[in-house]
Amino acid sequence: MLLYKTIISVNKQLNKLITIPFPQLETGINSVSEAGALMSSAGAKKVLIVTDKMLHSLGLTNSLCDSLTASNIEFVIFDHVTPDPTVAIVATGADFYKKHDCDAIVALGGGSPIDCAKIIGAKVVKDRPVRSLVGKLKIRKKLPPFMAIPTTAGTGSEATVAAVVSDPTARQKFAIMDPVLLPDFAIIDPSLMTGLPKAMTAATGMDALTHAVEAYIGTFNTPLTDRYAKQAIEKIFKYLPKAYEDGQDLEAREQMSIASYEAGCAFTRAFVGYVHAIAHQLGGMYHIPHGHANAVLLPMVLRFLQPYCMKRMDELAAILGLRDGEEFIDAVIELNRQLNIPTNFPELLPADIPLIAKRALAEAHGTYPVPGYMNQKQCESLLRQFLVEPPQSDNATAA
Ligand SMILES: NC(=O)c1ccc[n+]([C@@H]2O[C@H](COP(=O)([O-])OP(=O)(O)OC[C@H]3O[C@@H](n4cnc5c(N)ncnc54)[C@H](O)[C@@H]3O)[C@@H](O)[C@H]2O)c1
Ligand SMILES: [Fe+2]
Repeated sequence: MLLYKTIISVNKQLNKLITIPFPQLETGINSVSEAGALMSSAGAKKVLIVTDKMLHSLGLTNSLCDSLTASNIEFVIFDHVTPDPTVAIVATGADFYKKHDCDAIVALGGGSPIDCAKIIGAKVVKDRPVRSLVGKLKIRKKLPPFMAIPTTAGTGSEATVAAVVSDPTARQKFAIMDPVLLPDFAIIDPSLMTGLPKAMTAATGMDALTHAVEAYIGTFNTPLTDRYAKQAIEKIFKYLPKAYEDGQDLEAREQMSIASYEAGCAFTRAFVGYVHAIAHQLGGMYHIPHGHANAVLLPMVLRFLQPYCMKRMDELAAILGLRDGEEFIDAVIELNRQLNIPTNFPELLPADIPLIAKRALAEAHGTYPVPGYMNQKQCESLLRQFLVEPPQSDNATAA
């Protein structure tokens, strides 16, 4: 573990040298109508709209298309994005962009279309296999003018320098991190989110909570990321149950979309941790939705980490008026219960656990500034707790 600690402390100093910008932000009901003027200000003449078939068929792209047309901007729609977009979909999207002579990109959708659009943009300016862009700072070239319009309140991808891509052959998800992936513009319009189904509302909201919590307890936090994380956590506990109960509650949708953005601003600088490292493996292997995987994992991972970051966990508890980190973990469990999120993964196979643990630790160590370290045995033991019939004697505890 000494090696990882050394790498992380060097990375922490390097991380401070990197300027992470914020997107130009428009918020509010019907703010999507600003899209055309903003893209016009960036010189866009022909936009590639990246979305998915569901959102297109629900008519969620209509206001965006109207706004582009009103600003005399042509567009073509690439709606082939699937949840957890693959390297092949990205490559098809980049070909589509070139074939139609586009000069700008607008992503409308959840994290999947936004991430797909980010990597299409990267592939357009850096014509290399997508897998070779995986990791940190592999692009380093300005993307075409780029706008993100989230339709879920979860990933915060509109505020981050990260994009996630799946490789079905390897059954893995990979993160690409580079400041050039940060959108030039973000439009947060809660009226696009009222049709998000209950289960997706719950899962994506818990993704945002996980971003804020992992950013707060990780060792790359700064006063600014702390502020964003705390604001997000307060909003999520207050408004996620409301958005879940009544999807039409525009105030709850709006507050959740701001919380998701704030959590994105926190983790784009302060990074995430073991919850994400493990969730990415569960997504790559079983296609478990990202936010759902995070939600199920979060309480157990926090129990493991709490001895390493008691003060930080107590501070999280204080945001909710609770006494200590234990009570904060109980509040996360209670929130999951209210959102009907289960406590196990029926898809998880005991035989896959060693590989999932190995890959998760490889993703986390040296990259994510976790407050305490987990070894292979501890990670496997933690994972076994999520089997539908967990072994009684197996308890993942801090070393
Ligand atoms: N780049 C980042 O910083 C970052 C952070 C976290 C997660 N991610 C990635 O984002 C992806 C997950 O994104 P997501 O959780 O937003 O889900 P998603 O984009 O995969 O969408 C999930 C489903 O919800 C539907 N949907 C989305 N918005 C809707 C709406 N308003 N109404 C009705 N249906 C709607 C979609 O059509 C889709 O079927 C994962 O691949 C994850 O790894 C990226
Ligand atoms: Fe996430």
